Amino acid sequence: MSLSFLARLDARKRAADYYQNLGDAFEAASGGSGYLNLGLFEGSDEPIAAAQERLVDLLVEPLPRSGRWLDVGCGLGGPALRWVERNPDVEVTGLNLSVEQLARCPSHPRLRFVGGDADRMPFVHGGYQAVLSLEAAFHFRDRLQFLQQAWRALEPGGWLTLTDIGVREGQLRLYDGLLARGARRMLGAESLIQAGDWRNLLGQVGYVGLQVQDLGARVWPHMRRWTQAVEGAPIGYGQLARIGARYLAEGGKDTPLAYLLIRARKPETAPPLDAPLR
Ligand SMILES: C[S@@+](CC[C@H](N)C(=O)[O-])C[C@H]1O[C@@H](n2cnc3c(N)ncnc32)[C@H](O)[C@@H]1O
Repeated sequence: MSLSFLARLDARKRAADYYQNLGDAFEAASGGSGYLNLGLFEGSDEPIAAAQERLVDLLVEPLPRSGRWLDVGCGLGGPALRWVERNPDVEVTGLNLSVEQLARCPSHPRLRFVGGDADRMPFVHGGYQAVLSLEAAFHFRDRLQFLQQAWRALEPGGWLTLTDIGVREGQLRLYDGLLARGARRMLGAESLIQAGDWRNLLGQVGYVGLQVQDLGARVWPHMRRWTQAVEGAPIGYGQLARIGARYLAEGGKDTPLAYLLIRARKPETAPPLDAPLR
């Protein structure tokens, strides 16, 4: 058994444990919205579900409204359902590690859900006009591998659009590093990286038209909304998440975390699928 295989198993277990511990509380806080993301808020009184929908819509804003989209880390399928319902010429395939979540995904003639790992996607033949991933990449074992697999899944000219929880560029002091470590546990994250790291990874694979934007100012100040979410969570997770959410809400401009929106494209003249990846 190879070390990378064992490391991947370990990462899967951490993600599964995380949702087992916090999933119900998270869903309760958002009123069973079907979305498992933090939301992009406009005001502090806004229902969590409305903020989540804004994020779901923003993710696909630049995409042509036809063809096949692949949603990596699809959660309970809520985002995918919203996309197909609003776009009659779009089909979505959702990919998720979590068998429990997949079993709860909705049925729709233009939706398909499959089990699998972002690092080892079972789609290597192209055919997708877009690869999406909403707030899942911080759980992935290896982002570079994910980007390479997405490249293979995408048609030339296809879009990659995702959000990731990251660390703010140049803001890390020693004690923030410790806080980031706590945040990693609170979020069930494998690693948290910076905007510049994303640019490097995307460039390494060959993506073009890179855009990386930090939306944290519309996410972290509203974390207090989520503290109720973790009231019922098991000891350990619940306490850590509560402290973390409070810290992030109060951190203001000093919060060490970023909420990154990342967009890029596979070039029209991309090498054929069987060419070795760079
Ligand atoms: C924060 S939730 C976001 C869910 C969904 N995108 C949404 O916005 O409602 C992260 C999701 O990523 C999934 N996930 C975590 N690691 C994964 C991996 N390596 N491959 C595929 N899915 C993964 C989790 O099971 C969970 O469904």
